[in-house]
Amino acid sequence: MSEIGHTREVDAPAQRILVTGGAGFIGSAVVRRLVRQGRQVLTYDKLTYAGNLASLAEVHNLPGHRFVQADICDGQAFRAALDAFRPDLVMHLAAESHVDRSIDGPGEFIRTNVLGTYTLLEEALRYWRALDAPERGRFRFHHISTDEVYGTLGDEGLFREDTPYQPNSPYSASKASSDHLVRAWFHTYGLPVVMSNCSNNYGPYHFPEKLIPLTILNALEGKPLPVYGRGENVRDWLYVDDHAAALELIATRGRLGESYNVGGNNERRNIDVVRTICAIMDRVVPDAKIGPREKLITFVTDRPGHDARYAIDATKLKDELGWVPTHDFESGIEATVRWYLDNAAWWEPLKARYDRQRIGLAP
Ligand code: NAD
Ligand code: DAU
Repeated sequence: MSEIGHTREVDAPAQRILVTGGAGFIGSAVVRRLVRQGRQVLTYDKLTYAGNLASLAEVHNLPGHRFVQADICDGQAFRAALDAFRPDLVMHLAAESHVDRSIDGPGEFIRTNVLGTYTLLEEALRYWRALDAPERGRFRFHHISTDEVYGTLGDEGLFREDTPYQPNSPYSASKASSDHLVRAWFHTYGLPVVMSNCSNNYGPYHFPEKLIPLTILNALEGKPLPVYGRGENVRDWLYVDDHAAALELIATRGRLGESYNVGGNNERRNIDVVRTICAIMDRVVPDAKIGPREKLITFVTDRPGHDARYAIDATKLKDELGWVPTHDFESGIEATVRWYLDNAAWWEPLKARYDRQRIGLAP
């Protein structure tokens, strides 16, 4: 069994990386980054409503990138992908990721996030055990998770790696379950795993069901900007490329059996995020017919079980692996708004999958 906290020197950076969920928001940022660096990457993705090959257009046809459309619950398909591609690193990002959808339909979250992760662990263990000794020493399984597993904070305090788990939504409960499975496969079977729990990401290629892209696109079209409750819930926002950089470090250099919190040190109330977007858009794309976008803000029925505040202490990641985010919220949100304005060809077709109607109101 691998010893917890054991630091394994990595002789050579991982070169063959299988990324589950690589056609999603964060996964595609990871894949683009790794392929640009010259690694061999296999994107393994089912292409649900949230998966999009257009997010991989920059790298899709490069020799360093391969793609397989398959479900993480399909053990045979994952086994075939492992045996054919022979990765030395698996980065597991595939998941159902939207809290509101988990309120309307928790079943798919249990299936993908819990059973899917279990399926990957079983197949990764089989694959790892059959490797020869040097390959076995190099192999790693990186499980990517969320700060929502810790539940909710009051006005004070930060989530640390030793904060007790207290998930409150079907989404966060399913992610917490998957975290526990990954930890158990390390302790019981010695599968070499690392884990990370991150705060809210934002940036390009974000599916417009989430607060920031939904607000940008509704503001562009002069539609109401729905703010749940009083807009006082706080999230800790991290630019997606900073998360991708952190994930590369954790996957390749993190200590086996350990988890690392990742966060942007950018706490904002939702209402302030929405107002900031309105101000940027009034400046960059003023529209006389729409007028000041703040007038579009509409307070709507709160999300059931809405967590009040998330905030991350990322000291461990900084101290052990030297990671610090490079984008502050002001520059990151302006870059994000401009990206959506310049990339209608990416988001227009997504209206057929989801047209920004309210979801997640429990009956
Ligand atoms: P996303 O919804 O944008 O993408 C998920 C991807 O997984 C999609 O490409 C989808 O097609 C794929 N997928 C879903 N079910 C699958 C299945 N059964 N088999 C194979 N592929 C499947 O999600 P995201 O925001 O990029 O999040 C990626 C990971 O990071 C998730 O595990 C999420 O829990 C975690 N995370 C997200 C955030 C955030 O702010 N978005 C923050 C912390 C952690
Ligand atoms: O903290 C990490 C998590 O961040 C990830 O694990 C999830 O995958 C990711 O979706 C995100 O979860 P949130 O629920 O925080 O993100 P969302 O964009 O859905 O909502 C952000 C906040 O904005 C939240 O307090 C709810 C609120 N909100 C959301 C929407 C969609 C609104 O006020 N109006 C909206 O229309």
